[in-house]
Amino acid sequence: MTQDELKTQVGLAALQYVVKGEIVGVGTGSTVNKFIDALAIIKNDIKGAVSSSEASTQRLKALGIPVFDSNSVSELGVYIDGADEIDHAGHMVKGGGAALTREKIVAAIAKRFVCIADESKLVNVLGAFPLPVEVIPMASAQLMREFAALGGNAMVRRKDGESLVTDNGQHIIDVTGLQIKDPVAFETRVSQWPGVVTVGVFALQKAQVCLLGTPSGVKTLEF
Ligand code: 5RP
Repeated sequence: MTQDELKTQVGLAALQYVVKGEIVGVGTGSTVNKFIDALAIIKNDIKGAVSSSEASTQRLKALGIPVFDSNSVSELGVYIDGADEIDHAGHMVKGGGAALTREKIVAAIAKRFVCIADESKLVNVLGAFPLPVEVIPMASAQLMREFAALGGNAMVRRKDGESLVTDNGQHIIDVTGLQIKDPVAFETRVSQWPGVVTVGVFALQKAQVCLLGTPSGVKTLEF
């Protein structure tokens, strides 16, 4: 089975967590795109979605799924999103698609985070995937020094020869060389550094469920 097929499988499996008649929180990325495509099948059974990126909003709207402003919704039953890494306790690294800030905001409104991922994303310790951190551009150099002091190596993410600009008008730095053994402490610490908008460790808001795509079917991990 290809990685794409594994993503399709978990995108479809996530439909069982969507509550009929409600608004669903929708993440960002290639796995979530499969979920959005599956959601279109049951679009008449839901009220709509709150989206975590311009890209997901466009895809949802193109499929005729109403998109609500996060400020108009006080609570979501479920938020469904992918991850770059997930550990055996449901802590994640996210932000490979540069949407981490809005993802954390929508996740904060939701009662339950359901992560959808292929089995390559399951790790023992977070950090092999370069950690995305959304930053205020004038703080980049200082923050790169802070990460160097932790043993990391940070680089500003680039796209088309320029620094990538997020949906929120900020930059992303990607940090390699970290081993994040205590994700809650790490997220708490880095979130307080001046200039950090969002660190891509999702430990304070971890997943409660992970649907993991494997060649022998979808495995459900509960945390
Ligand atoms: C975007 C994200 C994605 O959820 C993460 O990058 C996984 O993406 P994909 O499903 O394409 O592997 O955090 O900011």
